Amino acid sequence: MARQVDGHSDFRATVIQTRLTSYDLVAYPGYTHPQTHPDRLAVIGVLSGLEPAPVNRCRVLELGCGNGSNLVPMAWGLPESDFVGIDLAAHPIAYGQRMISDLGITNVRLIHGNITEARQDRGKFDYLIAHGLFSWVPAEVREQLLAICRSSLAPQGIAFVSYNALPGGHLRNMLREMMLFHVRGVAAAEERVRQAQALVRFLAEAQDTRDEYRLWLKAELEGILDHDEGHLYHDELAELNEPFYFTRFMERATAHGLQYVGEADYFEMFDHSFSESVRQTLGQLSLNRIVREQYLDFLKCRRFRQTLLCHQEVCLRTEPRAEKVSGFLVSSPARCITSATDLRPGTVSAYQTPKGARCETDFALGKAALAVLERAWPMPLPFEEVLQQAMISSSQERVSDPNDGQARERLSEFLLKLYSAGVVQFRAGLPPIARGASERPVASPVARWQAQHGDIVTSMFHIAVKVEDEIGRHLLSWLDGTLDRKALLERVWFLLESKKALVVPNGDETAARREIELSLENNLEKLARLGLLVG
Ligand SMILES: C[S@@+](CC[C@H](N)C(=O)[O-])C[C@H]1O[C@@H](n2cnc3c(N)ncnc32)[C@H](O)[C@@H]1O
Repeated sequence: MARQVDGHSDFRATVIQTRLTSYDLVAYPGYTHPQTHPDRLAVIGVLSGLEPAPVNRCRVLELGCGNGSNLVPMAWGLPESDFVGIDLAAHPIAYGQRMISDLGITNVRLIHGNITEARQDRGKFDYLIAHGLFSWVPAEVREQLLAICRSSLAPQGIAFVSYNALPGGHLRNMLREMMLFHVRGVAAAEERVRQAQALVRFLAEAQDTRDEYRLWLKAELEGILDHDEGHLYHDELAELNEPFYFTRFMERATAHGLQYVGEADYFEMFDHSFSESVRQTLGQLSLNRIVREQYLDFLKCRRFRQTLLCHQEVCLRTEPRAEKVSGFLVSSPARCITSATDLRPGTVSAYQTPKGARCETDFALGKAALAVLERAWPMPLPFEEVLQQAMISSSQERVSDPNDGQARERLSEFLLKLYSAGVVQFRAGLPPIARGASERPVASPVARWQAQHGDIVTSMFHIAVKVEDEIGRHLLSWLDGTLDRKALLERVWFLLESKKALVVPNGDETAARREIELSLENNLEKLARLGLLVG
């Protein structure tokens, strides 16, 4: 069943006089988008030659901010910065406002309004976010979105604009059109979703895997079945959902005095996954950066873009600034997939992230750095610390010169290459994340609030985390720093008892308590690793 507005019913009073939009009628799942965080935009801006405002003292505007699930956690994590969100739908805004007032956050405002009528006197913003808006609105709203980027961005500001892209969008449209055909004449939102799901299920189950088309179609259809109902209603079944060729998007952005900085998923701009000859031909076809990106979209059959823009007057660098890497924090989920890391030069080791990004290297200091990052994951470390630790281990193994004057420069360049391959991540700063669970653990107040209202919470890495089990959600909401292990254990015990879920094998209460104690400790450690505990 599609989640109807009843989910927001306690916020109804504030919006009773307002014209409702489709986003009021069917809730859109409010997610956190790590790729829109000002920290991410700042890193890419700095590498590209911009001098963006420091993330811990900046102004952020989000257009089409939905229920604030993206903006409010950012605001909590950056208390000295200022956040403004605007959305046309009243119910999601009321939901976000409730979250803000419950949490007592004072550096964020959510405004109910149309961006075409938005006031222009809110000052300049250092970062502007428009996630999931451009492709879903009529041409005049798209133009206004770009006009706001131009008029509201600070001189060194960065705008994030996501949109559905071509040619991949053609494939997506094919399925969308099948669904729209099937639900033609069906008006009720819930029924449209139900019918569309039924069609997708029918088509998916009908496919055997004898030919390539059927294989592809089956995978696509199964992907749609995983979508949240609100997502399906507003994306696939949306009245407007227009994909664009990158060059066409950039034509419009340029007309508004904006230029291309890069993609928010930095690695998307690179061709590492193609053979040398493909890369050479791509180079020959690439008259300029924009054309190169367009051919890259053809090669990758891109269907979604997350483009960063800035004022056209800014002088951007053609090559990223490796010297800036030493100012970042670095992390990597990559694991060494060859036999135990051998730091000797000439011995190639391969690394891979859970998402499949890969690299191979025989660079001794680089291998030592990746080993340091593997141990520290998920916590980012300052570049200097990575360098120092890598120098120590590589000189202990006598594979690098401890007095190498170029070590910093070489490691910076190496890590920058890995960043462009999606193997390492850079950050400009970090909120106070606990490295482990303390005696009286404290969870982020935002996550505690979210745990009381649903199963998706936001970590301090600005990543959405699904807390599926009820006990986990209760545990998270209790972590306000007042309860020690004994008190937490009591709460878990009583909760299990009240749910008739308490298992006491052979009536041995002591053993049962020990079991719960152990699982409590594991869960607290898990919460810490996910970045949900405050340090
Ligand atoms: C697909 S949702 C995306 C929500 C959120 N940004 C995200 O990506 O999760 C599009 C949002 O844009 C809002 N919207 C559409 N047209 C708008 C307009 N003219 N002015 C302000 N918000 C608008 C909708 O109400 C909806 O919340």
